[in-house]
This record gives sequence, structure tokens and C-alpha cells, in this order.
Amino acid sequence: MTAVWLELGTSFRSNSAIAALSKEEHFDRVNFSKGLNSSLCSDPSMSKLPGSAGVSLLGDKSLEFYRDPVSFCRQRIEKHRVRVFQSRLLNRPTVFICSVEGMRELLCEKSNVFLKDPTDLMTNMYGDTIVTTNGEEACLLRLSLTSLFSGTCLKSSKDYISSVCERCLKRLSLSGEPECVYSVFKQLGTELVLGLFLNIRAEEQPELFQEIMQLCTQHWHGLISAPVNMKVPLWSSGFSTALEARDKLMDIIKDKLENDTQGFVGSLGSLPLPDSSSAAQHLLLFISALIPKALASLLTSFTLALGGNEQEETRRRAMEDPDYLHRVLLEVQRLWPPFIGGRRIAAQDSTLSGFHVPKGYGAVYISHAVHRDPEVFQQPDSFLPERWSGRNAGQEHFLCSFGNGPRSCIGVKLTDFFLKEACTYMLKRYDWWLDPPSQDTEYKWLPVSRPAKPPTLSFTHLRQTSADSRNPGDARGV
Ligand code: HEM
Repeated sequence: MTAVWLELGTSFRSNSAIAALSKEEHFDRVNFSKGLNSSLCSDPSMSKLPGSAGVSLLGDKSLEFYRDPVSFCRQRIEKHRVRVFQSRLLNRPTVFICSVEGMRELLCEKSNVFLKDPTDLMTNMYGDTIVTTNGEEACLLRLSLTSLFSGTCLKSSKDYISSVCERCLKRLSLSGEPECVYSVFKQLGTELVLGLFLNIRAEEQPELFQEIMQLCTQHWHGLISAPVNMKVPLWSSGFSTALEARDKLMDIIKDKLENDTQGFVGSLGSLPLPDSSSAAQHLLLFISALIPKALASLLTSFTLALGGNEQEETRRRAMEDPDYLHRVLLEVQRLWPPFIGGRRIAAQDSTLSGFHVPKGYGAVYISHAVHRDPEVFQQPDSFLPERWSGRNAGQEHFLCSFGNGPRSCIGVKLTDFFLKEACTYMLKRYDWWLDPPSQDTEYKWLPVSRPAKPPTLSFTHLRQTSADSRNPGDARGV
């Protein structure tokens, strides 16, 4: 991303030289590039989107994008020297938004122009849910569902969240062997969603829990496999297996909705919803593998960012100061957002960042690129929690890991509480480090971000470490 910063600027200075710019010099540069942008936008001959939307099918770049979305965007930002460009995705001309300003325009100011796609693959897999609905129906659904994720409902989940963190995270130091943290965190996320949303606890109903977990995984694989519903004797495509898994999950969910009056499932059953299948479709969405994977993604990034001797002081501060932990977590989601972004369709001719966007165009915001927009985030590739009490204080709304604007994530408060509980549990009990110390931690970004090769880390109890006054990193030769 360094090169992006350079290309966007007007001179080819090195990154360290840019970091050394005086404040005045920096603002001059930002204002200059803003002036450049607005002069581009006010000139009608220059308002065509940079890049090419290609011809149908042959010009489609979906495969290239899915293989490596970060390089895909980086290359085009460098080529066009602007963080908004067009290409062809899912065989539709599509605007790619990689700037904070563009993301806010798409998701906030023009949220009534750029709409959710009702034919999205999510509809195939989850049925009609809030995720692919627009207009008044979406507003009413949000009103109903949001009540489940706030106030007393959220409060009543707190004890369960604490107990599930304790149950799953205490095993981190038990084996004495390095742990594949992503798997531990995914199990934790699954226990969280199945316990909270369906009242199914792993320790009370282990077989049912395992069965649902397996069905959720099969269902998930259908979402990421080609949507071809083919079935021949002795072989079935991932997609048709996924649809079978979905039907079995729906039977379990409907049974719960009919017979359970307690907790989330009980409250959902009594909410005003558009039709009789709506509660079940939403429960299917909430227990899907998507959420545990996103939670595991953030927790994995957190442990990697704060692991090792060199981060000991950061861990100590985060343990003692909840505000500092908050900043650490903002920085974790900024650099490693679990989802690459979201997609909308233009319902009418419009503009984004001053460029003309015809009706029917797709528009995707790329959270990874938005979060590294050098106009807003100085040293965009560096992990600097302090930025959130300094230059970027009060700018959480420039992030989009949980979407932004009127269609942002309704589970954000629940997620925030859960993450803080899990992180505080680990910070209070453990020191941890990458073990073995040299591992390839390069990320893959789709379908959910995480290091492509799951990393292993070792954990020791803080008490134990101070008792034998040994540095865990030294003890393991780190
Ligand atoms: C780490 C955890 C999570 C992440 C990273 C995440 C991320 C997101 C993002 C990026 C969006 C916006 C999508 C778009 O712009 O098209 C979204 C929407 C949504 N999220 Fe989450 N989410 C998380 C957890 C949850 C949880 C726990 C729930 C509830 C069980 C939830 C329910 C929803 C719903 C219903 C929407 C759709 C809102 C609408 O369309 O109006 N999410 N989430």
C-alpha cells in the first residue's frame, strides 16, 4: 500500500520521507489532491469512471478479484492514481470504492440510491432476510431485530458470554503444545451463537451441538461453492449438499421456535415480522458459520498483533485500561477486517466521488482498501492503536468492517461485548507468542480474512511466568 500512497501524491518520495513531512506540508498535500479530485469531478469530460467495465462474460474479472482482492485493488489504484475505479464483477459493470470519502457517500449519503441486491447468493442460501431487503421492509425488520441486540436482551446474554469465553479459552494453555488459535476461536464463536440464539449448549447437548455444527459447515460450503444445484447418484455438488443441510437446519430451528419460549429464540418468536417463515430464516442467518468465522478472524488477528515479547507492554496496557483495549481493537479491525466489503446496485443514474455511475451498475466498498486510505490514516499499514486517541480520535465512523450508515451491522454491540470479554480473559491470564516463531502469516481475504496457513501460538499463565521470572519468549527460544 506504500506505493498507493506514493502514486496518489504528486511526487515520488519514499514512505519514510512522507512520514517525516511536517504537519503543514501534509495538509498542503492533502488539500492539493482534494483540489485535484474536485477539479476532475467538476469537469464533465473527466467524470467517466477510470478503468474499464469490459464486455459481457469475456471481460469479467470476478476470478481475478476472488483470487486476490487486495492485489486486484492495489494494482488498479496504482494504475489510475485514484481510489475509485470500474471493472466487471459477477458479470456486471461495477464501481470499486477504496476511499473513506467514497465509502461514506455510498453507504450513508446515497444509501437510498445504491441498494442491496435481492438476487444476491445470500438469498439462495438464507432465504428472504434483512440482508437482501430494501426500503420500508428493511427499515421495519431492522427495528424489530435491533431490539434483540440491545438493552435488556444484550444484558441478559452477558453471563452466558462470560461463561463460554471461560470454557473455551481456558484450554489455550492446557496441552503445553502450540495451539491453532483460529480453530479454538471458531469453536468459541460457534458455542456463542448456538448457545445465545438457539439455547443449545455444547456441554449440555454435545451430540445435537456437533450435528448442528456439521450442518452449518456444509451449508457454508454451499455458499462459497458454485451455485449449481446438480445431483446425480453417488455424487452431489457442494451446493445441493448445502441445500440439504439448510433443510435439516430449518427443521431444527422451527422445532425450537415452536417449543422454546426462553431467551433469544423465544423473543424472536414473538416479534412482529413480515411472514411466518421470517423468524426461522433469520435464525438460520444468525447461526450460520459466517459469524463464528468473522469472530475467529478478529480474535486471531488480535492474538497475532499482540503476541511476543515486543508486545508485552501493549498487552499490559490493554489489560489495565479498557479505553486502550478499545483502541487496540479498532486498529485490529482497521487492518484486518473480517469481510472484504459489501455490494450494492445503483437504482438510478448517480455519481460517486464525482464520477458518473449509470443505473444498474454494481458498487462494492473494499474495507481493506478504505481502511488504508492515506488521506485519513497516516502510516496506513502500521499497527498504531494510539492513532485513535490522536489524529483519528472520534473517527470510528470512517471504518466499515461492520458496514456503515443505515445498513450497518445490527450485531455490532453484541460483537463488541463478546470481543472485549474474550480479549480481556486472555490478557488477564496469558502471555502468548508465535510458536514456532517463524511462520508464514500472510493473509487470505476471502471468504473471511485470516492467515492462509493457520498460525500456531503458545500460551503460558501470567502467574507462572512471573513466578519463575522467566521470559516465555526466551524460554522457548523466541
Ligand atoms: C465479527 C463479527 C461481525 C462482522 C465483521 C459483521 C460484519 C457485517 C457487515 C460488514 C455488514 C454490512 C454488510 C453490507 O454493507 O452489505 C453486516 C450487516 C449485518 N450483520 Fe453483521 N457482522 C458481525 C457480526 C454479526 C452478528 C453477531 C450479527 C447478529 C447475529 C450480525 C447481523 C448482521 C445483520 C442482520 C446485517 C444486515 C443489516 C442490514 O442489512 O440492514 N452481524 N455485518
